[in-house]
Amino acid sequence: MLAFGDGAGPIMEGEDDSDSSLLVRKARLSDAEPIYKIHLRSLGGVDRETLSWFEELLRLRSQNLKVLVAEKGGEVIGFSIAYRRKGKAYLDYMAVDPRERGKGVGSALLVAMEEMLAREGAEEVSLGVKKDNYGALQFYLNHGYAVKGVVLMLSSSSAEDHNLDGYSVSVVKGGLSSAKSRVMPTAWWSSVTEYVNRRVYRRLEDQYSLLLYRGSKLRGLAEFSPRKKMTVDYVAVSYHKPAEALSALVGALRAQARERGVEEITIPVDGSKGAMSKTLLSQGFKIKGIEFKLRKELPTPTPRKVF
Ligand SMILES: CC(C)(COP(=O)(O)OP(=O)(O)OC[C@H]1O[C@@H](n2cnc3c(N)ncnc32)[C@H](O)[C@@H]1OP(=O)(O)O)[C@@H](O)C(=O)NCCC(=O)NCCS
Repeated sequence: MLAFGDGAGPIMEGEDDSDSSLLVRKARLSDAEPIYKIHLRSLGGVDRETLSWFEELLRLRSQNLKVLVAEKGGEVIGFSIAYRRKGKAYLDYMAVDPRERGKGVGSALLVAMEEMLAREGAEEVSLGVKKDNYGALQFYLNHGYAVKGVVLMLSSSSAEDHNLDGYSVSVVKGGLSSAKSRVMPTAWWSSVTEYVNRRVYRRLEDQYSLLLYRGSKLRGLAEFSPRKKMTVDYVAVSYHKPAEALSALVGALRAQARERGVEEITIPVDGSKGAMSKTLLSQGFKIKGIEFKLRKELPTPTPRKVF
């Protein structure tokens, strides 16, 4: 039985009303802890999210952000997080409690999320899967997704030497939106996730912008949130000598990272951005992982009957 719910009401329910039936509903703030626990049992330690990150995410009221949970017997056993920007949606993260996998919970969450996104205007959903996560890869391919590209996860220790080569650096608290500059995302998902992520990190107050100058001219930008393992998704360099500016930017990021106790910096780069990956590899970055980019076109939703 399928039911469309508003607010925190059910989106999808199982056949019977017993305690063990499956319910998919919009997440509430009180779901942050169970979501975080499932995260720890799933990809914990790999990704950067903390309990406060999930809490801030659930506090955000944004049409662009969708968080669903699957509940059985009053217990949250799975969740799905997606972002939408106009016709494009990005499925950021989905996980089911390991004890409940293989029973259709993930499928129920995915179908409910896709239907919700389609009703709100999304024409396609994209997502990233780590290359050796064969279970998830098979799951998404079974659900009609196709591989559309790869992202290289390029990593470097912050202890590597750096050379600013005549550039100067300024670091400001807050994201690049406060630096009032246009940024070029390094990986395909950023243009969809950027809006929500920035708001979450701004509330967590651990976001910084790094601005790189040559004399008085702005030559590069990067946004970072210092964590032991830090991921930098937003980097931009000038058209003038871009490789030189990127090398200096990386040097400045390493110095900042080291000062703040960060051990490793990862920059996800679209496989198609040859010049950017070449420069980072020449600066001592190593390929630490590969993610597949998957995409599925959503069918146009059938209009809901109005009585
Ligand atoms: C991917 C995931 C959300 C699927 O949830 P689920 O409730 O197990 O999914 P369903 O029961 O609806 O579907 C199961 C199907 O998924 C695939 N699958 C998922 N995980 C699998 C695994 N570890 N090994 C093998 N197949 C797996 C299989 O095709 C399986 O079909 P089968 O039961 O006919 O073999 C869940 O496995 C999970 O939480 N994984 C860890 C987190 C993760 O990798 N998330 C995706 C990246 S964001």
